[in-house]
Amino acid sequence: MFIVIEGIDGTGKSTLAKALTEALGTEVTVLTREPTDSSVWGKRLRAAAEEGRLSPEEELDYFHRDRLHHLETLIRPALAAGKHVICDRYIDSTLAYQAKDPEEAEHMYARFAPDLLTPDLVFILECPVELAFERIGAGRDGRSQFEVRETLERAAAIYASLKGDRYHRVDASREPKAVLVDVVRIVEKKLAN
Ligand code: TYD
Repeated sequence: MFIVIEGIDGTGKSTLAKALTEALGTEVTVLTREPTDSSVWGKRLRAAAEEGRLSPEEELDYFHRDRLHHLETLIRPALAAGKHVICDRYIDSTLAYQAKDPEEAEHMYARFAPDLLTPDLVFILECPVELAFERIGAGRDGRSQFEVRETLERAAAIYASLKGDRYHRVDASREPKAVLVDVVRIVEKKLAN
């Protein structure tokens, strides 16, 4: 299964992704994330998060190229080898962070989705922007340029607008364990189908 974890910064995606990998079994599960560390585009995006963002067109293009590279070199081969893939952020992050509103997000999805593999499950971790902001440390030095409040609010609104059977919204204001229990239940149900 191809499972994606989404949500604004500070919702605990990385913690959940790691715990879910362990719950499914590290031998049969590949944990990965976007932007990647393995393509020139991913590396440039990670550097830009610290140093200052690229132009909007460049950013969109780089996320897409990084994703195509990720699919070819890691995601598709791992699935073909019979593994589960858990990906911390995917196309919905591009919709949430690069689109200005739900309408633009819809157009963006129509533009990029034909080149991509659709995940079996997408977990959208939800918590109040205020709490997410506290968790990432408002005012902390060296905070990512992506993590400004307006960006998180806009991203949360776009995540809230996404529709489709693969999306599962999870209350991420709770303890990590409670979040994991909900997610594992949904994954097991899907695996049994
Ligand atoms: P993040 O998962 O927060 O990385 P880390 O855990 O290392 O901080 O991702 C970095 C930022 O990249 C995050 O703020 C959201 C942004 N992003 C986009 O804007 N568009 C995308 O398509 C992706 C995958 C990430």
